[in-house]
Amino acid sequence: MLTLLGLGAASFGGLIVLDQSNSTAQGSSRRTPPAAAPGDNSSAAPGADGILTIYYSKTGANYPDLDLTVGNTARIAEMIRDRVGGDVFEIVPETPYPADYDETDRMAGEEEAENRFRPIRDALPDVSAYHTVFVGHPIWYGEQPMVVQTFMRDRNLGSATVVPFVTHEGSGFGNTLEVIADFWPDAQVLEGFEERGTQVHRDLDGARRDVDQWLERIGF
Ligand SMILES: Cc1cc2nc3c(=O)[nH]c(=O)nc-3n(C[C@H](O)[C@H](O)[C@H](O)COP(=O)(O)O)c2cc1C
Repeated sequence: MLTLLGLGAASFGGLIVLDQSNSTAQGSSRRTPPAAAPGDNSSAAPGADGILTIYYSKTGANYPDLDLTVGNTARIAEMIRDRVGGDVFEIVPETPYPADYDETDRMAGEEEAENRFRPIRDALPDVSAYHTVFVGHPIWYGEQPMVVQTFMRDRNLGSATVVPFVTHEGSGFGNTLEVIADFWPDAQVLEGFEERGTQVHRDLDGARRDVDQWLERIGF
């Protein structure tokens, strides 16, 4: 992969990404329940709080040369859950993306170019129990990875409140909001959160401050 970080640009497969991010800064903090373990999609009382966080995040090899035991977006999902509570559903592909970064990059590029929906391992939650759904993922090829788009295709959130959060390496939200409008045209979309994955990885405390400040601003 060609990397042009010094110029504020990176390349994913054939896609050149210019820096469109606009991270937030300092904020306050409020802590509530502990985060569910990654991959634990069981929940004692689904929908009790009316808030659901769904996310996809890749462990293992990641951009630019990271080997992550917890993915960047998963970190943000944990921070959101710590503050707002509610249920968490981790989107896990039925067949995992390859451990090798370049293989994943190639596969994801093909999948998105051909609009091939990737099956999800677990049964999807009944989303009718939730009034607010936080939706998180890395930016892949300028938008939601196809495994996230599978969830979006198969679960209609109706007029629920949708709160996007993404990690990326320069695209910011990319086309995320347009894709949300395509799948969930009646959703009420609040201001989302975006941050570079490398920034989250380098400074977890700073990322938590950014998340807390954003949540405060949008009323959580
Ligand atoms: C297959 C693939 C495609 C990517 N495409 C983009 C992109 O188009 N724009 C961008 O800014 N970052 C892109 N990235 C970087 C990821 O969005 C970034 O590393 C993110 O923080 C990874 O989050 P995760 O650890 O939750 O999976 C891509 C990464 C991968 C693996």
